Amino acid sequence: MIDENTLGAGALSRDGVSAEQALDEVRRLRADDRPTHGGRLFAYVYDPAVPGLDALTAAAHSESAHVNGLDPTAFPSLLAMENALVGAAGRVLGGGPGTTAPDVVGSVTSGGTESLILAVKAARDAHPEIGAPRIVVPSTAHAAFAKAAHYLRVALDVVPVSPDTLRPEPAAMAAAIGPDTVLVACSAPSYAHGVVDPVAEIAAVAAEAGVRCHVDACFGGWTLPYLRRLGAPVPAFDFEVPGVTSISVDLHKYAYAPKGVSVLLHRDAAGRAPQYFAYADWPGYTMINPVIASTRSGGPIAAAYATLRHLGDAGYLRLAATTRDAVTGLAEAVRAVDGLRLMVEPESTVVCFTATKGGPDLFVLVDELTARGWHTQPQLSYADLPASVHLTVTASVAPRVAEFGPDLVAAVAAARATGPVRLPAELASLVGTLTPEALTPEVVAGLAAGLGLGGDTAGPLPDRMAVVNTLLDASPPAMRERLLVEFVGLLQRPSWGSAG
Ligand SMILES: Cc1ncc(COP(=O)(O)O)c(C=O)c1O
Repeated sequence: MIDENTLGAGALSRDGVSAEQALDEVRRLRADDRPTHGGRLFAYVYDPAVPGLDALTAAAHSESAHVNGLDPTAFPSLLAMENALVGAAGRVLGGGPGTTAPDVVGSVTSGGTESLILAVKAARDAHPEIGAPRIVVPSTAHAAFAKAAHYLRVALDVVPVSPDTLRPEPAAMAAAIGPDTVLVACSAPSYAHGVVDPVAEIAAVAAEAGVRCHVDACFGGWTLPYLRRLGAPVPAFDFEVPGVTSISVDLHKYAYAPKGVSVLLHRDAAGRAPQYFAYADWPGYTMINPVIASTRSGGPIAAAYATLRHLGDAGYLRLAATTRDAVTGLAEAVRAVDGLRLMVEPESTVVCFTATKGGPDLFVLVDELTARGWHTQPQLSYADLPASVHLTVTASVAPRVAEFGPDLVAAVAAARATGPVRLPAELASLVGTLTPEALTPEVVAGLAAGLGLGGDTAGPLPDRMAVVNTLLDASPPAMRERLLVEFVGLLQRPSWGSAG
């Protein structure tokens, strides 16, 4: 029961605070975040550095924030904007009037993960006769496919990629297709390395087997057609390819819309039909949802609409050119450093590098780059792929490229001087002996404290993450998963104190 003494906790103030104070608190909390603008954060954010775009999208978002996508007949504005976004995405990805995919349809979802879950759901529910459905993906396919498989009780058949090309062999994808396969998927491009899978070959083997083929273009799919128009040798990957049945593309990535908007396209309405969920067997309103969410804010959709209208085709072409130049410059900077090598020559908007034999410890290097104001993304070793450093490059990086090279050189020198991380003996032996099942909350709390994670006084995360990354890297995937779930669980605790 709430009584006088317990009123006000966490975000709930006792009597309410002024609008100025509420906003000030948000701004103060934001001060510890990584910089979303300025071209020094190479993951999580997509910044075109277009003056005035933030103000435009904030205004558009607020215009539609309270509109509910639950019922398109009540809010035709949202339906119109969704249809316009789907039309744009369909057009960019090779569909629409006058193409070989004139009947493309789609839905706006909250993000890439939701789009992929729905692509898998549509494929699964198109085959109610298959009791134990399966999907085939390359090992570089986004983790959201594993999440979809987990949520939807669909088995995941993972095909390894070549350590040289970072792509799966179409023949291996074909061999993985069985009678219970409902979907074959590939990436254009993959997140980790930014490479485009052999979509035409994979779609052909899927079509041959009578199985749907989804192209995950969530990450860089919006940019690839523009890079091609600029002369890059981008292979066919969209609806132009026979056998491609659905494509996802995130507008909150390279279409530079604020977070919360992706588009899932199907070649035709029949392909989309099993994506819907309709329910009339209760006394409330009849529910008909094309996507997972029921109530949906119009804010992100309106913001995405305003972004596309404002930037236009010419804007995206210009931004792709700027991004391409930034990618070229960053790749040059990496090539120039002894001890580093590109995992693969960049073919989209990713620069991914690893250390050569005798090179610096990558996790220490990432910390050294952070100390110099560059926020890169470490990727753990996996199967026969080494640990690497991932840079998602956006247009905002271009003016920073000249500063990156010297800082990379200095960071590598500092990482070499520090030497590789040596796990404390007790941690190293723990990793060797522990199984995921044996990880009790007490063991995790002890581990976290030893690593400087989740402490109440020093802030939730240490400045340097190399030891944590080394520990994770030394652990098999199942153990990584358990450790991360437990660590993040330690971070996600309610705050009971109230500012008043
Ligand atoms: C290729 C690819 N697919 C799917 C996703 C998932 O997107 P989201 O984080 O919007 O759910 C990502 C995210 O980075 C991605 O790179």
